[in-house]
Amino acid sequence: MSERDLELVVTGTDPVAKGILRLTLASRDGSELPAWQPGAHIDLHFTSRGAEYVRQYSLCGSPADRRQWQVAVLLVPEGRGGSAHIHESCAVGDTVRVTGPRNNFPLESASEYLFIAGGIGITPMLPMIAEVAASGKNWRLVYCGRSVDSMAFLDDVLALGADRVSLHARDTHGRADLTALIAQTGPDTAIYCCGPESMLRTIDESRQARPSERVHVERFARREGENEGTATEFEVEFARSGVAVTVPADRSILEMAEESGVDIDSSCQEGICGSCETAVLSGTPDHRDEVLSEAEREAGKTMMVCVSRSCSARLILDA
Ligand code: FES
Repeated sequence: MSERDLELVVTGTDPVAKGILRLTLASRDGSELPAWQPGAHIDLHFTSRGAEYVRQYSLCGSPADRRQWQVAVLLVPEGRGGSAHIHESCAVGDTVRVTGPRNNFPLESASEYLFIAGGIGITPMLPMIAEVAASGKNWRLVYCGRSVDSMAFLDDVLALGADRVSLHARDTHGRADLTALIAQTGPDTAIYCCGPESMLRTIDESRQARPSERVHVERFARREGENEGTATEFEVEFARSGVAVTVPADRSILEMAEESGVDIDSSCQEGICGSCETAVLSGTPDHRDEVLSEAEREAGKTMMVCVSRSCSARLILDA
């Protein structure tokens, strides 16, 4: 999927649950927006109190609707300010710079599906479930949240198949036993999970005994204490640009590329959005991102140059 820079206009701001605002975006002239697939996200760029923010949000509307995009933004009062700005300041008629769509969480073909969503993690699931439901395949959704009033799009998922949805609002239903749920699935069930880190850690532990390519997890933030390690100096050659640099222990490949005039897309700079993915022509990457699957890491064909480093003394990248 190609990544583009767009100037879109906000055409709707609707509360869809406690602390969750849905933004609807469209082109100012009503022209069609780029195509996307379930699981895709976009980056919103904005400035608040002199600081620039880029935040990733999953597209939660219908891919068939090429005239508008929808994202849902959870207010995180203790966050870094991006969600508060959107909740307090975003208004119909505003112009927003958007990049994407990009899909790090694509829907694979499977005979049946288990979707596990926690809170705002329902957003990438909604178009996925709609597609699977339309295909007639078997699916289940386990939807967890703090309370029913904080769980967005409940009516939408129930309309897709009320008998396939298990709700677990912590204040009334208690916690779901995710470990048991995953253990009960067959080997051909594709499992998709998105939600808070506490939930995803349980999924990580439960997935050990399963084919890793069947369990798909999308994170909105880096895991603390994971994908870290000592950093050492190494060489990188950007083959297309004809530039070679030394990456010191305290700098990233992306920083050195920018400093050397090598053009590589980037957004989050935290290893979670996938926009800086770069093909590896030679050498062994030291993957430290949250995007690539185990199989993709082992293949070593691409890497996220904002955070990942090198196991070999030299990497040659297609940039
Ligand atoms: S810039 Fe987001 S993964 Fe590298």
